[in-house]
Order: sequence, then structure tokens, then C-alpha cells
Amino acid sequence: MNQESQRAKLPAKGLPIEEIDRHLDTIAVDKVHGHWWRAFRGEDDVQEVGYKTFNRFISDNGILSLSAGYMNDIRQELVDMCVGLMNPDTTSTGSVTSGGSESVYSALHAMREWAKDNRPEVKEPTVVAPANAHPSFSKGCHYFGLHMLRVPLGPDYRVDLDAMRAAITADTVCLVGSAPNWYQAFIDPIEDIAAMAVEHGAWMHVDACVGGYMLPFLEKLGHPVPLWDFRVPGVQSISADLHKLGYCPKPCSTILWRDEAFLDYHNILVTDVSGGSYRTEGFLGSRPAGSYFAAWAVLKYLGESGYLNMTRKLVANVEKLTHGINALEGLEVWPGDVPTPLSFSSEVAPIDLVMGGMTKRYSWMMLGVDQPPRIVLPVDVAANDAVIEPYLADLGKVVDGVLSGKITDSVPLRYG
Ligand SMILES: Cc1ncc(COP(=O)(O)O)c(C=O)c1O
Repeated sequence: MNQESQRAKLPAKGLPIEEIDRHLDTIAVDKVHGHWWRAFRGEDDVQEVGYKTFNRFISDNGILSLSAGYMNDIRQELVDMCVGLMNPDTTSTGSVTSGGSESVYSALHAMREWAKDNRPEVKEPTVVAPANAHPSFSKGCHYFGLHMLRVPLGPDYRVDLDAMRAAITADTVCLVGSAPNWYQAFIDPIEDIAAMAVEHGAWMHVDACVGGYMLPFLEKLGHPVPLWDFRVPGVQSISADLHKLGYCPKPCSTILWRDEAFLDYHNILVTDVSGGSYRTEGFLGSRPAGSYFAAWAVLKYLGESGYLNMTRKLVANVEKLTHGINALEGLEVWPGDVPTPLSFSSEVAPIDLVMGGMTKRYSWMMLGVDQPPRIVLPVDVAANDAVIEPYLADLGKVVDGVLSGKITDSVPLRYG
């Protein structure tokens, strides 16, 4: 925290926009070196559709997304297109949120309300989740007074199903699986976990924030994809981010519900205020309607054929990167179940030093994880040769520098 004397002050007089822009020009990271921090993004034309539409509706207030005719129509059409990709029941539907974290919170909150109705005997409502499920599950449990029980991973970094079964108690109201998780890009055995949820009368949530808008197209292209969506009995909700591999502008995600009845747990009607009744979509009040319109426009612009094309190109980008990384001494790409996020480790070059060299010497913005130590690349369709070639060239120099002892600056391996 800044001391009083260092605290920035509101300028006495407004600055010319040129001066503001000049300052921002000095701090903004260029398109190539900032790529991994800006992912996931579509190709230029798709970004253009998203940004143009977002800006057009940026001042329209999404607080009215359930009530204003034109906005509600767009929201409903967007939700219909999204849930339609998840092999839904006839009564399935969805809600739009600001991101994966909010979608996870929405699932936990609705589940807690459902459990009050359906599991009234439970004293300490407990969520059982694999150790590598996203941190937003722990945050959400904290916010909603739920108990979080993390299940250890096996030696292969996949969830230990026996440990999960052993963790279930009379208080377990929710089981979680990821499709895939961020840390290892593995798809949890959703069918096994959901079967346990059904057996114990628990809610099953699938976190497909990364996979939700990639897996349907990978499957159509013939890649092996285990069942993870509403085809699996017991799956009650799915979080899926439009602002990741849906290639829509941030902030935008969806929470998909097996049954529209769950909307009553999510969209709270407030009637105890003198000004009149109040009902908005989910947690937020005012929000830019731009995200709803931009997502709708991107989905319409791409259509199924556009997503299939982008998925093909994404797979090609990942193959090129994988080949280039594996060719560097001591580096090894981690074997995920999905093409992205792609991560790599090294037995010989400490990965925190590789990260240090890439960020401090060559100004790449990157993310890391530490169990085991790896650099994580959220590869998207926009990670084309303009990004891959300079990245691999700098990575090669850094690995040489680390192995020869010339690069010794480490940075923490961290995601968030
Ligand atoms: C598997 C998974 N779930 C949830 C989230 C949270 O998404 P967001 O950062 O949009 O809140 C992420 C983010 O990367 C994720 O990878």
C-alpha cells in the first residue's frame, strides 16, 4: 500500500487525451509479448466483431437483461445457442455471467439453495472436489458458508476416485469434476463422479470453463472426448466460458442448468425494499450489456463451421508449439487430454529460471504452476506464427542461458 506522500492524486485539472495516451503507450505490453496474458482470443476478424458490438452496447445496462425486450431476446437466444451445444434435456437452460469464477459461484449458490430444499437433514453442507479443481470453488465455498473438501490426486496427477468415494459423507451435497482443469489439462472421469453423486443424492457440477466451447467441436472433428456434458445422468450444472474458447470479449461466461427450475435458485426476487420488487440475472446489478450482444454477435458470425475451423487451427498451433518446445534441450510438453492449455516442464532446466529469463530478459508475459513446476500457455487460435516463432526463438535462447548458468533470475510460478 502506498504511503500518504506517495499516493496518486486526482489531477487538479484534466489532462489532454494525448498525454494520457502517451503514458499508456509506455506501459502497454505489445501484441506479441502480451499474447499469453490476453488469451483466449479469436482471429482478428472475430475480435473485431466482438469489440465493435461490445462498444455499440457498452452503455446499455445489462441490469435489464431479464426484462428489457430487445436485451432479453438477445440473452435468451445466446443462452439457447450455448446450452444447445451441451446435449441438453428439453428443459435445460442457462444464465450469462461475467466469467468462470462467477459461473462457479452461481453453481455453488444455486446448489446450496437446492440442498436446503432437497437435503434438509444436512448440517454442514460439503462440496467434494478434486485438488486441482479451480480456486474459485474454494472462494465460492468461503462466500456461501459451504465446507470444501479437496480430494488428493494420484501419482499421475489425476483425481483419485477411491479417495473421492471415501471423502463422501452424509453432509456431502455437491461433487465437482473439471473438463478440463487448468493445472494439468486433464478431463476428470465425469461419468464416474456423476454416478457417485447420483448414488449419494448430491448435485454434480462440471467445470468446463476451459472446455465448454472447445470439446463439442473437438468431438465433431473426431478427437476422442469422454462424455462430460448433460448426456451424463446426474450432471446438474456446467460452467463454460464464452470469453475463453468461445472467443467472445471478456467478461462473459455461462452457467448452464439441466433444468430451468434451477433459475429460481439463481435469480433472486427481492420484495422487501420500499422502491418496488427487484430481480436481475444472477449476482450482479448494473453491467455492460455489451458482453451479451458481443457474445451473441460472435456466435452468429462464426456459426458451427466457424468454430470447427478455429478448432482445427487451434490444434495446428498447438502441434507447432509442441514440436518446437520438445525440440529444445530438456523441455517436455505435458500430456493433457485437450490441446489447450498447453504446459511444459523440464528435468534439467529449473522452470522458475526459464520463466525468469522469458519475463525479465525477453518481456514475455506468462503464467506458471508449481505442482509439478510448469509454464502454462493458454494457446488459442490467435497464437499463430507471429507469436509462436519469436516465442520459440526466445525460449531456445533462455534454455541455453539457464543450462549454461548465465540466467539465474527466478520468478515465482504463479497463476493469479
Ligand atoms: C477450469 C477453470 N475454471 C474456472 C476458471 C475461472 O475463470 P475466470 O478467470 O474467467 O473467472 C478458470 C480460469 O482459467 C479455469 O481454467
